[in-house]
Amino acid sequence: MRKKIVAANWKMNMLQVEAAEFVRDLLQELGDQTAAEVVIVPPFTAIPRVVEALGGAEHVKVGAQNMYWERSGAYTGEISAAMLRNLFVRYVVLGHSERRQLFGETDEMVNRKVHAAQDATLRPIVCVGETLKQRDAGQVEEVLEGQLRRGLAGLETKAFTETVIAYEPVWAIGTGRNATPAQAQEAHAFIRSVLRELADDATAARIRIQYGGSVKPDNARALMSQPDIDGALVGGASLEARSFAQIVLAAAEDALDEERLSS
Ligand code: 13P
Repeated sequence: MRKKIVAANWKMNMLQVEAAEFVRDLLQELGDQTAAEVVIVPPFTAIPRVVEALGGAEHVKVGAQNMYWERSGAYTGEISAAMLRNLFVRYVVLGHSERRQLFGETDEMVNRKVHAAQDATLRPIVCVGETLKQRDAGQVEEVLEGQLRRGLAGLETKAFTETVIAYEPVWAIGTGRNATPAQAQEAHAFIRSVLRELADDATAARIRIQYGGSVKPDNARALMSQPDIDGALVGGASLEARSFAQIVLAAAEDALDEERLSS
């Protein structure tokens, strides 16, 4: 069974004090739940403060929102995988649609970053998703397949299982318009079929695919109960500890239900 993974992508929000307060409140809200894996993805500047506030709490991990593929050198303004590992970061979000659209990231760049992250034992969360125009033109599968094939090119089987995919339809990000559970499930099942071709059946069955795009406490459970939805990548609703915790708990409840059903 795949362990659900719920991540808080804070984007360019949260100063240090706010970050520390969030962690304190989140730990309180979550109690000792361990049914779902939790990742906080702060801006670089708040990472040390988040790690400190977590105080070694093993059930909440820290991620970064981006990185560069080179190890070190004259790359002004960039951050390497080793620098992130040095801060106890475990995950890194790569190829978010905001990076693709606003900062010109291509699948080839995403691929170089995926390899560099893996080499440094950082687990990539690779984002894919179509725009509204592409959906309306009936190109969802073509877009997703291209992003996956190019973004994950050259990965070994073990590296695949340590990679998380996030399906984030661009039209659902920050719009309050989430994909319906059925629309999301359809895309996730397709993504898994592409992963089967890129790796193998057993590996594809182990890869976690998160949904992202206007996930809120009131739609989380319905999304999470879909067979191929293995968690959420949350933007807006992750800026408040209470609402993020409710989403985590929805994922945890779903995981516990699945466990009951299979035993
Ligand atoms: P929202 O939850 O604000 O729609 O953002 C989703 C997202 O981009 C997470 O990476």
